[in-house]
Amino acid sequence: MLRSKLFVLPVIALALICQSINCWAKPQTAPKSESKAKVKTEPAKSKGQMTFESHCSSCHINGGNVVKPQKPLAGSKYLSNYVSFKSYLKEPVGTMPHYENLISNDKVLKELYRYVQTLKKSEGS
Ligand code: HEC
Repeated sequence: MLRSKLFVLPVIALALICQSINCWAKPQTAPKSESKAKVKTEPAKSKGQMTFESHCSSCHINGGNVVKPQKPLAGSKYLSNYVSFKSYLKEPVGTMPHYENLISNDKVLKELYRYVQTLKKSEGS
């Protein structure tokens, strides 16, 4: 009587441990997390944002100015209209690079202009 009880107890204990660490549910959780990752999609970037990220954001990250912090891009007077934006890029000041390929393509430049106008002056950058 006592012997058979001693045999059953470890089996129950094992079952309880297995239940608590959820070892029977493992094969089910793997495909679930996979499908979750697929649902996550980034919002589409505008062409202007992509041009900004490939040409300008290294220095003007978040609309700031890494090289010359007192001359941020966001809120710049050169963004007040497209003509002044274009002419600034035609003859940039100081270490600001010259972008021949952008200036000669009004379509790309206009999209870039639309994007940089959305940048907000932010504290810390
Ligand atoms: C290598 C770093 C660098 C890159 C890349 C760069 N800039 Fe600049 N930018 C500067 C610097 C430095 C200044 C400040 C020039 C000065 O006044 O001395 C500046 C200034 C400006 C200003 C005028 C800000 C103001 O009010 O005086 C605008 C507008 C501007 N950049 C737009 C752009 C755009 C658009 C791009 C991408 C096509 C770009 N920059 C890429 C460094 C950079």
